[in-house]
Amino acid sequence: MIRPVLRMGDPRLLQKSAPVKAFGTPELQELLADMRDTMAHLNGAGLAAPQIGVGLRVVIFGVTSNPRYPDIEPVPDTVLINPKLTPLSEEEEEGWEGCLSVPGMRGWVPRFKRLRYSGFDEAGKKFQRDVEGFHARVVQHEVDHLDGVLYPMRIRDMTKFGFNEELFPDRELPPED
Ligand code: NI
Repeated sequence: MIRPVLRMGDPRLLQKSAPVKAFGTPELQELLADMRDTMAHLNGAGLAAPQIGVGLRVVIFGVTSNPRYPDIEPVPDTVLINPKLTPLSEEEEEGWEGCLSVPGMRGWVPRFKRLRYSGFDEAGKKFQRDVEGFHARVVQHEVDHLDGVLYPMRIRDMTKFGFNEELFPDRELPPED
């Protein structure tokens, strides 16, 4: 079921979410189905459970390659539950981000360039991946949602925060997450 996405200003987006304790339950399956439906409906790159008002440490993300934005690398469709992030170097990289909870805007956000993420899939199986670049950025953006952090809170140069049409008048932008 497509669920409404909370927008910045809703206090539920600022709360710290709780770990999932039981896997393979109908409740978790329904949550994931709703998150997938909602993300697909909005053409999103990712979605965190608190964005639909559920305070659990569950995120989904995935981006298929698209010739309309060739500088964005594809990211496999992933369900990540109770995630843990470990930067693999101090190195940061800045890049544009958008968010379904801050629709129609983009901001220039620093993130760790390379990191390891670990967590559980929907069946409760543990996995980990070492990633970099756009994939690493998407994961950091989603996991921030679980700690009540929205990307505008991480922008250092507020002159690089604005509406899509004003910042990028002639460009098709990659999906929000
Ligand atoms: Ni977001």
